[in-house]
Amino acid sequence: MQSDFKHRPVLLESTLAGLVTTEGGRYLDGTLGGGGHAKAILDASGSDGIVIGIDRDPSALAAARSRLESYGNRFTAIHGTFGDMASLASAWAPFNGILLDLGVSSPQLDRPNRGFSFQADGPVDMRMDPSQGITAAQLLDKLDEPGLVDILRRYGEEPRARRIARAILDGRPWHSTIDLARCVSESSGYRNSRTHPATRTFQALRMAVNNELGQLEKALEAATSLLDVGGRLGIITFHSLEDRLVKRAFRTFSGHGTPKDAYGNPVTSPHFQLIHRRGIAGKDADAGHPRSRSARLRILEHIPHPSPH
Ligand SMILES: C[S@@+](CC[C@H](N)C(=O)[O-])C[C@H]1O[C@@H](n2cnc3c(N)ncnc32)[C@H](O)[C@@H]1O
Repeated sequence: MQSDFKHRPVLLESTLAGLVTTEGGRYLDGTLGGGGHAKAILDASGSDGIVIGIDRDPSALAAARSRLESYGNRFTAIHGTFGDMASLASAWAPFNGILLDLGVSSPQLDRPNRGFSFQADGPVDMRMDPSQGITAAQLLDKLDEPGLVDILRRYGEEPRARRIARAILDGRPWHSTIDLARCVSESSGYRNSRTHPATRTFQALRMAVNNELGQLEKALEAATSLLDVGGRLGIITFHSLEDRLVKRAFRTFSGHGTPKDAYGNPVTSPHFQLIHRRGIAGKDADAGHPRSRSARLRILEHIPHPSPH
């Protein structure tokens, strides 16, 4: 299992430097994947460090379990979504570090039968957890034109959403990712674009099928309640929709926009602080990694609450 689940961790050095601040600490990896980041955290956190890993994809969990078997009870893998981390991982809380490395893994993208790829043919599936929920093909069967246009605009920021949506709905039912990608290419009319014309449509459908932004919103709230004082939450995003959500939430948690009293002092003191104001861009910190080009790591720290006078 392990050998065909290769995924090189993105922004590895920056993640370790930003997150693993405590020898023997407790860490939660909400996007375990094949266990690349988790292994590095186990190695960096001393002989007593523990990692709890969550993934919604059973094949990722199996790969991580086999890869990290030698760490014994320092490592625990849990099947579930990171949106449910409060209930799944509360038994091990509070954590010194929580990591989310968002999106799909290279093995998920590269296996045509998972249905994420428009370059290799597969069923129009796109579920990260193939044991639950509806496939992208089933979602397309249920949608009307305004519904699909909304998904393409909201999750794909696709400027030609209406004409693409019409063509997709006319071509139903969809059985092949290659056929779907061809329909998008032909109907969108994009010529000479740097990325494949179906990139935004596939991203949008994948995000809708897996409720990716809903999961992220839930996790942002939950993670702050699971962090120890001094603990850090690190989130690696891969596109502007995710990054905007994380940036806004981190600014709110760190007191930005808190109402001020008559003297200009915030009326409540924040419990969190940003570690890097702009985050760490993958293109600067991990330039050799092909997936890092659009990656950004943002880190938030739980700070002690000032004692009352
Ligand atoms: C980019 S990969 C993580 C790779 C991992 N950091 C490594 O180094 O091997 C993202 C993983 O998160 C999982 N995932 C995405 N959204 C999830 C969610 N809401 N809940 C649980 N797992 C999720 C995917 O199934 C995938 O395995």
